Amino acid sequence: MTESLETRVVAALARLRNPRLENDLLSAGMIRDLAVGPDGSVNFTFLLSPEDPATLVRQARAAVQEVEGVRRDAVKIAVTNPSGPPKVTHGPPAAAEAPPPQAPAAPEMPDLGRIIAVSSGKGGVGKSTVSANLAVALARSGRRVGLMDADVYGPNIPRMFGVSERPPVTGGKIQPLEAFGVRLMSLGFLVERDAPAIWRGPIIMKIVQQFLRDVEWGPLDYFLVDLPPGTGDAQLSLVQATHVSGALIVTTPQEMAVGDALRGARMFERVGVPVLGIVENMSGFVDPESGRRLEIFSSGGGRRLADELGVDLLGSIPLQPGLAELADAGRPILVAEPESAAAAELQNVADQLQRRTAGRSAGLPILRG
Ligand SMILES: Nc1ncnc2c1ncn2[C@@H]1O[C@H](COP(=O)(O)OP(=O)(O)O)[C@@H](O)[C@H]1O
Ligand SMILES: [Mg+2]
Repeated sequence: MTESLETRVVAALARLRNPRLENDLLSAGMIRDLAVGPDGSVNFTFLLSPEDPATLVRQARAAVQEVEGVRRDAVKIAVTNPSGPPKVTHGPPAAAEAPPPQAPAAPEMPDLGRIIAVSSGKGGVGKSTVSANLAVALARSGRRVGLMDADVYGPNIPRMFGVSERPPVTGGKIQPLEAFGVRLMSLGFLVERDAPAIWRGPIIMKIVQQFLRDVEWGPLDYFLVDLPPGTGDAQLSLVQATHVSGALIVTTPQEMAVGDALRGARMFERVGVPVLGIVENMSGFVDPESGRRLEIFSSGGGRRLADELGVDLLGSIPLQPGLAELADAGRPILVAEPESAAAAELQNVADQLQRRTAGRSAGLPILRG
């Protein structure tokens, strides 16, 4: 299979380095709204901060114009200028593509409320379990909550909520499905179960943007995003597409998982998204008879990670027998067994999350539902 034009354009942009940030333009979050037309036209927004040389825009244009299949005269770059409408430059390099006076910022989406990314270093640590149950807990305390399943490699939020129908489209907007008071949208609604793995950077970026823009989330207080594991394109797409209030990092107590989680957390910090805290999952086992917590695996990973990052450990969720079966049956543990040790700890994490985000300026003031 030959690479798509879009992939080649993305690759060309990813080869350009920002000398100040010591990474490429894409990773630095400087390119947004990339649209590659079948006719060879390329449009994108360039977020240029005053500290960055304006020559970067010219370099980007030249690099894209060099890509085979791109129409040289159809490369349009909007250099963002936060104090006014984007300045569209067109055609051959303009003499001066002046930097805007202020640093760039990803667009605010105040309708989504506080946007919380839930991430992990590797898969299978319970990221979706945590996302789903936090969403349910927040909804139960009267918040308007959206949950976007952006885990393109394993979209399992629909199953965990027991919904499978295709979301309806009305008025040109995709309507989220709703379960347990949470508005849901998932790649799992849109693609076949065994289709994925071919999802690559540009496609992921498109999906994330589409989920943010074309879904009628409606006014929300919290918008949780269940990201794929690692530090890949979905993470970057999200932080480029909108202003993310903070990230929660899920890890297991084992050292290996913590190394991956640390890299993931550092990535958020690099792009200016604060880590709100660490959630340790599958952390020991609480004996239902005695209530005693038994450490089955090597332990303390969540605490070490939190210390390393200088953030708080928001909770340690024990291994809960039957949790996986309930999840498979579309019943979040917080609903199915609210008295269980795991549900209590998930509730505790949700409470802390609310406290921590209550004073933040991004998004709407918290409203009681
Ligand atoms: N605390 C827990 N106790 C028991 N099983 C759990 C717990 N957390 C997650 N699981 C199960 O582990 C598996 C992986 O969890 P999941 O949330 O899908 O991870 P991820 O989204 O990180 O890949 C699922 O089958 C889930 O039901
Ligand atoms: Mg998952």
